[in-house]
Amino acid sequence: MFHSAFLEVGAFTLTMAQLLEDVELVLSNKTTVKASEALKGKIVALYFSAHWCAPCKMFTPKLKEFYDALKAAGKNFEVVFVSFDRNAKDLEKYYNELHGDWPYVEFGDEAIETLSMGFNVSDIPALHIIDAGGRQLVDNARPLVTASGAEGAVALFEEWAKLL
Ligand SMILES: *[C@@H]1O[C@H](CO)[C@@H](O)[C@H](O)[C@H]1NC(C)=O
Ligand SMILES: *[C@@H]1O[C@H](CO)[C@@H](O)[C@H](O)[C@H]1NC(C)=O
Repeated sequence: MFHSAFLEVGAFTLTMAQLLEDVELVLSNKTTVKASEALKGKIVALYFSAHWCAPCKMFTPKLKEFYDALKAAGKNFEVVFVSFDRNAKDLEKYYNELHGDWPYVEFGDEAIETLSMGFNVSDIPALHIIDAGGRQLVDNARPLVTASGAEGAVALFEEWAKLL
């Protein structure tokens, strides 16, 4: 049912843009903010991940280093954690232990399902780079981030910025 809504590219684009506009993000200090506000003018990495997934737990610290390097360089970059955790407690624990100071979609929010369907996420970890309007810039950015590390973060970000 869900997939059929995304088959038409035009409809998909509109849906993703609308979804991103309306979705509520939770910040590290537990304040919620509209995605349209939090992501405005930024390049965004949608990070589909979960506590129970071992490759996710290996990648999360690498993403954090990458993120911290871009923040230190003042780049307009944001990560949004889209959790496949089984309950809110697991999400919180995983977020507090390993994640960077980036927003996440609250456990149980239907945006998790819609984003997963929209970006065809079947395996995690998955990292999709998008613009603030929901347009995909890079599919499967995980190997790029792993290879770049903190040292190559700014150069990789500049590559993505060229795709805007
Ligand atoms: C939470 O963090 C955001 C972003 O840094 C900030 O704008 C907001 O004022 C903070 N809220 C509280 C209650 O500390
Ligand atoms: C997801 O798959 C559908 C159907 O194959 C395709 O039309 C759509 O472009 C894909 N979306 C992304 C973001 O890759």
